[in-house]
Amino acid sequence: MSALDAKLAAALSSREQRQIRRRLPDPTSSSDSSSLIDFSSNDYLSFSSSPMLRDRFLSVLSEAPDILGSGGSRLLVNGQAHNQLEVRLAHFFGSPTALLFNSGFDANAGFFACIPQQEDVVVYDEYIHASVHDGVRASRAKNAQFSFSHNCIISLRKLLLRLIDERPSLVDGTCSLFLAVESLYSMDGTFAPLAEIVELFDRYFPRGNAHLVVDEAHATGIYGPQGRGRVAQLGLEDKVLARLHTFGKALAATGAVLLTNVLIRDYLLNYARPLIYTTSLSNANIIAASCSFDMLENGVAHNVTNHHRL
Ligand SMILES: Cc1ncc(COP(=O)(O)O)c(C=O)c1O
Repeated sequence: MSALDAKLAAALSSREQRQIRRRLPDPTSSSDSSSLIDFSSNDYLSFSSSPMLRDRFLSVLSEAPDILGSGGSRLLVNGQAHNQLEVRLAHFFGSPTALLFNSGFDANAGFFACIPQQEDVVVYDEYIHASVHDGVRASRAKNAQFSFSHNCIISLRKLLLRLIDERPSLVDGTCSLFLAVESLYSMDGTFAPLAEIVELFDRYFPRGNAHLVVDEAHATGIYGPQGRGRVAQLGLEDKVLARLHTFGKALAATGAVLLTNVLIRDYLLNYARPLIYTTSLSNANIIAASCSFDMLENGVAHNVTNHHRL
């Protein structure tokens, strides 16, 4: 066994002993939909097996001018379908602009790696998704990354007051604070106290240099009017710097959209490496996501969620 093999095997064996070794599930169990009830996937609206969505997708696909591939990075080939979906989603979610990413992971990793600047501070809920951690770790806000207890407004308030006390630049507004939360945490089914966070910001950061970033991955399609998420449900669109909606969970597609302002979008197009150095979503993928948004807009998703709540 080579030295590398020995080290990798030892790490895996350690995970095995701690009962945290990861393995791919049996692929046959996920396709046997007739005999099993799905309590584990993120296909919250059962869109992946919806005959209505499937028919719509196949029909749009058969009429579309381009369906295969995308030809390269968005910066090289900016397909009409991609562009149209962004315009549509900005309007649907009530945001100045929208920017597609290949996944929610890429969007979080890209945003947090490049938007916080050298003197800035990043605060996040202790349960925040791994993609935010990866982004923050790569960011220039090297020694200014802090977590607070899950959904605990008291813990957050304490942390913010401490940071304000220690950093005059947060008080005079010359540096910024970014706060990353998920609107709905999937592990425990808990909602972030978004309205209370906004109140804290208004109270302690009157210069407007505290920015809320909300990951709506698990709320997309389920909460808010037409499934537009918790931020929309609470009417906080103008209080949030960026919102992330992913297509891979309730929408049964792949990809994600980041809703934000014109300047941040432009900056991401110039600096977000997971966006710049990758082939964009295929046209078929864009069509699939688009068809799922049709289901949100035409009320089908709403009927499904209401039925489940009965
Ligand atoms: C809260 C949250 N954010 C982001 C992601 C990543 O999204 P995607 O699956 O589109 O990469 C996930 C998915 O695991 C998630 O649960």
